[in-house]
Amino acid sequence: MLKGLGEERLLRCFKDLSPDEREALLRQIGSIDLSLPAAFREYRDGRNGRGEAQTVPRDISPIRVMRLSEIGEKMKFFRERGLREARTGKLAAVLLAGGSGTRLGAEGPKGAFDIGETRHVYIFQRIFENLNDACAEIGRPVRLFVMTSESNHEETVRFIREHGFFGYPEDLVSFFTQDMAPALDEDGHIMLESAGRIATSPNGNGGWFVSLENAGLVDLCGREGITWLNVFAVDNVLQRICDPVFYGAVLESGLPAGAKVVRKTSPDERVGVICLDGGRASVVEYYELSDAMRDQKLGDGSYAYYYGVTLNYLFRISDLRAVAGKDMPIHFAHKKIPCYDDATGKTLKPDSPNGWKAEYFIFDILRSLDGCLPFEVLREREFAPVKNASGPDSVETARELLRRNGVEV
Ligand code: UD1
Repeated sequence: MLKGLGEERLLRCFKDLSPDEREALLRQIGSIDLSLPAAFREYRDGRNGRGEAQTVPRDISPIRVMRLSEIGEKMKFFRERGLREARTGKLAAVLLAGGSGTRLGAEGPKGAFDIGETRHVYIFQRIFENLNDACAEIGRPVRLFVMTSESNHEETVRFIREHGFFGYPEDLVSFFTQDMAPALDEDGHIMLESAGRIATSPNGNGGWFVSLENAGLVDLCGREGITWLNVFAVDNVLQRICDPVFYGAVLESGLPAGAKVVRKTSPDERVGVICLDGGRASVVEYYELSDAMRDQKLGDGSYAYYYGVTLNYLFRISDLRAVAGKDMPIHFAHKKIPCYDDATGKTLKPDSPNGWKAEYFIFDILRSLDGCLPFEVLREREFAPVKNASGPDSVETARELLRRNGVEV
């Protein structure tokens, strides 16, 4: 089978492996998506992962955003609607924590990173504190599903357990693991990390629903009457989780999804931009945004695409069930990937990008749904992402924003 796919080089060290190592490698081969090299070749040849020509112009236009002023006027109404539904247990939370967090330069799960200066303030701690605030407002605890990946699962579970779930009811927290994708070399072939192991990385945050389903947790939602999920990133230490105003506004809109968005601080801010694509809600990720789209202005001189997603979405489960995992585009990113060196038999850590990682993105599901409400939030109150060691979106900027919001760090 590997030969037919042109990937037989994966077994080039097979004869030197122990029986256990051979079995582990064969198991790994059986568990990964072997169609990625073909998808990559199409991508490189100018077609996307679904075989469509990438040169086909996307039909992009601005989307109407529910702005702060409108939310302010209807706040009480939205909050009451959201609280009423959340009190019946229809809403649960999904924390996406499978990413590798390499930009922070720290080893281990990103959530275990301590951003405190005068006391310990772990990123996971902030998530549980924020969730606790939501539960206090709702008047009941909310189920939390935590997505990890093979590379950080054990450490994540151990860390959260060691910290007593930061006071959150343990029986309401379930962990599930996302899939891994093989890394590809410059020619698009699957790479080895060591003689008996394929180089893999988490397959992006877009696989979350399929992984949740495979773990039996969507069925659990069905049994417990949970019909909506608030899905959010690990790194925003200021975000509001299960926010009743957001939930109420999305319910009121009748749409199957909602996305919290902020006004960008500059055209170059590294956030995905919300828009319409062929009339359907869609997000263009920051590193795929063309200069023309970035700079486009409306008649009144304002930017046409100036709302960025904070990675805090609401999804109606019944709508996701039908479309999740189908026709998701694959995004390829050029990265530094530790790989097996045939000359020395050791794992090499490259200084510059030497291969490609494949990822699915959470927002690509939006195009398959019948609409999404972009819901503006005040960035000073709700958006403090910890992405980098210093500079923008760093530990320093997050600390400053937390202090301004009355959180001691
Ligand atoms: C992400 C968003 C971007 C948004 C920005 C806001 C995506 C693809 N990108 O960008 O649109 O404007 O946040 O700060 O959604 N994750 C996994 N598994 C993976 C990869 C990532 O669970 O395989 C999780 C991470 O743990 C993290 C979140 O997804 O919680 C964001 O991942 P990251 O790759 O850091 O995205 P950004 O580039 O920051």
